[in-house]
Amino acid sequence: MQAFSLKDIIYPVFLKEGSGVKEEIRSMPGLYRFSSDEFLKEAEAIAASGVKSILVFGSSSKKNSFGTFAYSEENPVNITVKTLKKNHSELTVMTDVCLCAYTDHGHCGILKDGTKPEMDQGKTLNALAKTAVSHARAGADCVSPSAMVKGQVGAVREALDKEGFSHTRLMAYSAKFASSFYGPFRRAADSAPKKGDRSGYQLDFRDTEKALARVESDIKEGADIVMVKPALAYLDVIKEVKEKFNIKLAAYNVSGEYSMVKNGARAGLWEEWKMIDEIFAGIKRAGADILITYHALGIAKRIHE
Ligand code: PBG
Repeated sequence: MQAFSLKDIIYPVFLKEGSGVKEEIRSMPGLYRFSSDEFLKEAEAIAASGVKSILVFGSSSKKNSFGTFAYSEENPVNITVKTLKKNHSELTVMTDVCLCAYTDHGHCGILKDGTKPEMDQGKTLNALAKTAVSHARAGADCVSPSAMVKGQVGAVREALDKEGFSHTRLMAYSAKFASSFYGPFRRAADSAPKKGDRSGYQLDFRDTEKALARVESDIKEGADIVMVKPALAYLDVIKEVKEKFNIKLAAYNVSGEYSMVKNGARAGLWEEWKMIDEIFAGIKRAGADILITYHALGIAKRIHE
């Protein structure tokens, strides 16, 4: 079996505040950023396409050093998920739980005072837990902590259980490497760090040992699904996680991987669908059970043709 079926594919989508907004994301050809009202129309098309799961990312101009808008009821993610689950209960709605789109410094958590961008673990865990609970309250089926602060899975799981959301599932960004492949995404989500980079909390791309240790601790802390991200330069990590752990494994074919394929195809360097088939066969062969990809709608369309 060298192909993912539609039920194993997750489509990441980008929301922003306001109304009547559907703007093309220039760094990611063919994708859009939606306000809640426009996204609800798009959701019709997604549901009709046969794609079963979406991973929702928010963005906002309401930023401060603590990222408090992440867990506001007025947050575009919370507003949208609430209506979405009423209209499209058939869609599995997953949400990214991170502060980077809501902090004025652009880092994924709350920072300690100081010159180096270093996270305050306690404060960050607290804010992530609140964010996850707000998503669960809006109706998210699965939350996905991605700030890469230690203990994020346990803190989020505990808060969900305490607030009566023990049925809400948890997908952990376990092996998330500090990667150049996230470039196009950061423009899409307006979440690039203003100063410094994320190497203080994301994993060193050379360090498989640490990635495996993170997978192990995330499983102990209660993850239902673990993730390797990006996918292509980390096929060996996917394979190793699959061999060592008995848990659902997701691979995230990230923005840079998507835009390379798109831009290459537009420049006439290759045929887009041949390239995508080859890449996805590789990710499947390495052992991923689930694929998170921006190509999801295109795949659905092709399956039905
Ligand atoms: C937020 C987050 C990022 C991605 C997913 N969640 C960006 C980052 O860590 O800077 C990247 C996704 C992609 O590139 O497609 N923490």
